Amino acid sequence: MANLPSDDMASFSVVLSQSKHIIAVAGAGLSAASGIPTFRGAGGLWRKYDAISLATPEAFQENPSRVWQFYHYRREKALKCQPNAAHTALAAFSNKQIRDAVAPESTFTLITQNVDGLSQRALDSMPSTADSEDPQPKMLEMHGRLFDVICTKPGCRHRELNFTSPIVPALAGTEDLMEAGAVEPDIPLSDLPRCSKCGSPARPGVVWFGERPHYLGVIGKLVRQADLCLVVGTSSTVYPAAGYAAEVQRHGGKVAVFNLDRSEGDEDADFLFLGPCEQTLPAALALSEQQ
Ligand code: OAD
Ligand code: ZN
Repeated sequence: MANLPSDDMASFSVVLSQSKHIIAVAGAGLSAASGIPTFRGAGGLWRKYDAISLATPEAFQENPSRVWQFYHYRREKALKCQPNAAHTALAAFSNKQIRDAVAPESTFTLITQNVDGLSQRALDSMPSTADSEDPQPKMLEMHGRLFDVICTKPGCRHRELNFTSPIVPALAGTEDLMEAGAVEPDIPLSDLPRCSKCGSPARPGVVWFGERPHYLGVIGKLVRQADLCLVVGTSSTVYPAAGYAAEVQRHGGKVAVFNLDRSEGDEDADFLFLGPCEQTLPAALALSEQQ
């Protein structure tokens, strides 16, 4: 059996203090403690469907009623959930003054695959400080946002942020139909969300399998310059996000994985902190006292 990567917090804090360009790549495990189900393993089933099979343009084309019910369920869930200590630690770490205490003169960007908006809410609830000298984006939601709604009409593509609950009356209450055997309402297209500009059918503003994630150019630059990559609560199975840590290591940077369990490629990490990231991450970033 090969040795596991180090779980020594003291050595990690030395690496952290010497890092100048830090990124975090996050996944569903970041929001697990908030009560948001992950995609793989327990929690990956919605009604009787595999959550991943509903996250495709083809699924939406075939059954917009079902796919909207799935995203309506996720919207309602996210609205009820609160950011947890891991979101708060990352939000605090994105503040230059706070970060300077543990990683002086460094930059930091959170690259998240999550669409639940919890990292944004954690950032919004940070006390505002003059942080204008930070040139980097604090957070990039590469798989889009649950609360974005996009027009499906090629000539329009209007996108807007919509926190209405329920997003349309026809979806009201369908989030409670969770048993596999429940009769699923077949909602006509005309009662599903529509574009506020042109009236065409609208779709959830998330990136589906087969679609191009957002901010790939900016992310590519951040990954190339990063000397430390924190991998938080992701199974590291979906590309391109799954490849960022290895890319950072290839050019000499360090990788620290924070996951409840073993995850893809973690044996190659420099540090592996197994456990709930809502505990390990605030501790590793020396931000526990900020909660
Ligand atoms: P997954 O569901 O694949 O993985 C979640 C990871 O979080 C697993 O490795 C768990 O062990 C870990 N985990 C669970 N609870 C945790 C906790 N409290 N602390 C730390 N780790 C914990 O989710 P993602 O990796 O985010 O894409 O999946 C990637 C993408 O696949 C998603 O963005 C989504 C999905 O299908 C699209 O929809 C395009
Ligand atoms: Zn439109």
